[in-house]
Amino acid sequence: MAATTFLLSLLSLLLLLLTAAGNAADTPFPGFPSPWTTVANISDPAWTAAYAKAVEFVSGLTLTEKVNLTTGTGWEADRCIGNTGGLPRLGFRGFCLMDGPLGVRNSIRRLMRLRGEALGAEFRGKGVDVMLGPASGPLGRVPQGGRNWEGFGPDPYLAGVAMAETIQGIQSRGVIACAKHYILNEQEHYRGNIDVRIDDRTMHELYLWPFADAVRAGVGSVMCSYNKINGTYACENEWTTNYLLKNELGFQGFVMSDWGAQHTTLGSALGGLDMAMPGDGGPPLYRALWGGALTEAVLRGDVPEWRLDDMVVRIMAAYFKVHTGDYTSRPAPNFSAWTNKTMGPLHPSSNQSTTTVVNEFVNVQADHATLIRELGAKSIVLLKNTNNLLPLTKPASLAIIGDDAQDPPGGPNACPDRGCFPGGTVAMGYGSGTAEFPYLISPATALYHQAALDGTPIITNTTSNWNLPAARAAAASASVALVFAAATAGENYLTVATNAGDRNNLTLWGNGDALIAAVASVNPNTVVVLHTPGPVLLEHIANNPNVSAILWAGFPGQESGNGLVDVLYGRVNPQGRSPFVWAAQEGDWPARVMDEEEAEDPRRPVQGFGEGVWVDYRWFQKGGGRGGVVYPFGFGLGYTRFRYANLTVVRQEGAAAGAYELVEGVTGPAPRYGVVEEGLEMHVAPEGFERISPYVYPWLNNSESLVVGGGGAGNSSEFPAAARDGSAQPVLPASGAPGGHPGLYEVLYTVTALITNIGKVKGTDIPQLYVQLGGDNPWGILRGFDEVELEPEETKTVTFNLTRRDVSNWNTTTQNWEITDWGKFVFVGSNVRDIHLNSSLPAPVGMTWRYS
Ligand code: BGC
Repeated sequence: MAATTFLLSLLSLLLLLLTAAGNAADTPFPGFPSPWTTVANISDPAWTAAYAKAVEFVSGLTLTEKVNLTTGTGWEADRCIGNTGGLPRLGFRGFCLMDGPLGVRNSIRRLMRLRGEALGAEFRGKGVDVMLGPASGPLGRVPQGGRNWEGFGPDPYLAGVAMAETIQGIQSRGVIACAKHYILNEQEHYRGNIDVRIDDRTMHELYLWPFADAVRAGVGSVMCSYNKINGTYACENEWTTNYLLKNELGFQGFVMSDWGAQHTTLGSALGGLDMAMPGDGGPPLYRALWGGALTEAVLRGDVPEWRLDDMVVRIMAAYFKVHTGDYTSRPAPNFSAWTNKTMGPLHPSSNQSTTTVVNEFVNVQADHATLIRELGAKSIVLLKNTNNLLPLTKPASLAIIGDDAQDPPGGPNACPDRGCFPGGTVAMGYGSGTAEFPYLISPATALYHQAALDGTPIITNTTSNWNLPAARAAAASASVALVFAAATAGENYLTVATNAGDRNNLTLWGNGDALIAAVASVNPNTVVVLHTPGPVLLEHIANNPNVSAILWAGFPGQESGNGLVDVLYGRVNPQGRSPFVWAAQEGDWPARVMDEEEAEDPRRPVQGFGEGVWVDYRWFQKGGGRGGVVYPFGFGLGYTRFRYANLTVVRQEGAAAGAYELVEGVTGPAPRYGVVEEGLEMHVAPEGFERISPYVYPWLNNSESLVVGGGGAGNSSEFPAAARDGSAQPVLPASGAPGGHPGLYEVLYTVTALITNIGKVKGTDIPQLYVQLGGDNPWGILRGFDEVELEPEETKTVTFNLTRRDVSNWNTTTQNWEITDWGKFVFVGSNVRDIHLNSSLPAPVGMTWRYS
C-alpha cells in the first residue's frame, strides 16, 4: 500500500524529555446503542457551534447523500489515499484523507505545537481535509513494534501531551487531525486478525490514556485499528468505540476505519463506525460493505436512521469545527497520492479514467526547514560523553565511518515508502507513515561543510559497514572517529532485510555492532551516532572505554545532518531525553512480538497483554529484567549540569480539591435529521448517470427490491435489541465532556522546584515529575515534565500541576477514576532513576491516607 505522499518535511523529533477477556458476546460493559452526538451533554463551545452547523447541513441531505459522505470511493479511486463521495448538488466535494503522522518522539510542548502547526499548514496547502495522524497506537508495548516510531513512546502521559499539542497545532490550520490507531495495534505481525485480550484497568491507565487527551484536545477523527480486542474487531467493537470512546470519553467527531479494517455492514455501523475507508471491498453486489449496502441496510431498518444521521453529523461537525476563522473555505487537492509525475489518471483504479494534470507541485515547505532542524537537534539524546569529548572544537582531523552517514544512493526517495536497507542514512522508518523527502541533508554532507568552515584538514569517509579493515584504517588516522549505525522498522506491507514491519531483534543492522567495535578498537575518541526506531542492545558499546560519546538521533528527517552537527559542535546544547528504556538483553523486556513461532494457532492468534500496566520503565522499576538497565527512561546528558532544590507541594483548596460530582442522568433520545424519501426508486442513480467502474456509489442497484445480506453484511439477528434502541440512555459516571469527566482535569496539587545551571554554558534541562500512587502501582509514573532554559548560575522555578486523573486509578467496579487510600509521593529528577527531590502528598481535602 504505497502511500506516495507529497511532502512533509519529516519532522521526526526525538523525545525530549522526554481481565476482562472473552469473546464478542462478553464485552465487559454494555456498548449498545452507539452514542449519538448531542450538545446536550457536552459543554464544549467549539463542538457546540460546529454541531449546530452540522445539524443544519445534514438536515437538508437525502439518504444517499448522507451515505455518500460515510463511504470511501474505493482504493485508488481518487487523488488522495482516502476519498469520500461528495455532494455535487451542493457543490461540496468529497473528503480528502492523507497520511501520515511522521514519526515523532519529541519533546517540549512548544515544539510539539509548532510541529503540529507546520504539519497542518502543509496538509492544508496540498488540499487535504483529514491528516491521518498523529498516532499513539501502537503505544510501544514491545520495543520491536514496527510502527512505534510513528508515535511518541510507551509512556501514556508523554504520548497524551504530544497528541494534544500536535492535534491542536494541525487543526488550527484548518485540517482535521486523526488520532490513530484505536486501539491496541501494538505489533505488525498478524495485525489483521490478532485478538488482543486486555483487562479494563490496563486499558484505562495505559492504552486509552493518550486517546483521552486527544479527544480532550478536540480531535475531529479517530481511526479504528486492524486487530481484534477481546474477540471483536476494533472497527466494530462496541466496547472500545461506543462505550469507551463515544460514551465515556465523550468523543464528538467521527470514527473511520483503517484501510480495509471494516469487516461487516451491520456490525460496523452498530458498533460505532462512521466512515469506511478506503470504501471498497465487500460482497459482489456492491463490492463495498457500505455505499449502496448501507443505504439498503437503512431502508430495511437493520441500521436505524438515527445511526446514519449520527455518522454524518459527526463527520460534518468535525469539518465545521476546523473550518473557522481564516479557514472557512478549503482548497482542492492539488497532488496525487499515486504518482510523482505531473500527468496521471484522475481515478487510477478505473480503466475509464481521464488522464490530466494531477500533481501541481505546490510548494508548502515555507520556512519549516528551520523548525525541522531545531527539532532534530533538540531531540538528540546524548547517552554518553566521557571526558567531555563533545562538543567538538575544530578537531585536528575527522573520520566519518558507516553507510548510515551517507547520502542515499539514487536520492532520498529511491526506495518506495523508504522500504530498503542499507540505503544511506536512515532518517525515517518505512510504510504509510512516511513522506517524500524534499531533500535530505546526510550527516556526511553536513560534516564536510563544517570541516571546511573549520579548516579541519583530514576527513576520511568510509562508507561500507562490511569493510572492517578500511574502517579501522580510517579511524586510526583521525583524531576523532565518528561511526554511524542504524536499524529501521515500519509497516508490514513491506519486508526490509527480512523484517516484516516489526524488528526481528534489537541489534544494529548491517554489521553495525562489529563496525563500532572495529572503530573503537583503534581510536579512543570514538563517537557513536545511532539512527534507530527505538532501543537497541548497546551495553557493549556503552561499556567500551574507547567509545567516548554516544548519540541517539532517532529518525530526524530532512535536516538530519544539520541538526546533528549543531549538537556535535555545541551550537545546540543537547536536551533530548530517552522516551523509553535501553535494557541490556532482549529477554529483559516484559513482552515481545507474537510471531509465527509464538502463535499457538496462526489462523486465530490470541495475545494476552498479561504484563498489564508494567510496560517499559514501569517493569524495570519493579525489578523486571535480569540484565538490567543500560540507560533509563528519561535519561539524557547535556554540556552543562543542573542542581535541584526546594521542592514545594501545595494542595489546592476549595472546589477543585474535594468534590468529584458523579455524572448522572440520561441523554435525550437519538435525534433524526431530514427525511428518508419514500419509494425505492428515490434511492437509485439518477437516470443517465454514467458510472466510473469500480467507483463505490451510495445508490441501490435496483428499485425493485432490497437484497442486501449474506457475505460480509452481517445478520441483523446477531445484535441485541439495544443496538437499535434510540431512546434516552444513561450517562456513564466517568463521562461528561470531551476527554471524560471534567473533574478529572482539575488541578489538585501544584508542585514546584528550583533548578539551577551549575555548569559553564547555557543549557536546557527537562525536569521530570513522577508519582507513586501506592499499593499495586508502578514506582513511579511520569506525570509532568517541563523545559527550563538557563544561563550559567541562573535559577528558575519549575511548576508542575497534578490533576485528579494524575493521582487516580481506574476502578473497574465503579467504572470511574478513584483516588485510593494509599499514601502517595512525588519525585522530581533528571530521569526515572535519578531523583533529586521527593515529598509525600497530603491527602486531598476530605480524605485521609489509610495505607502506606
Ligand atoms: C495504515 C494507516 C494508514 C492507511 C492509509 C493503513 O495500512 O495502517 O496508518 O493511514 O493505511 O495509508
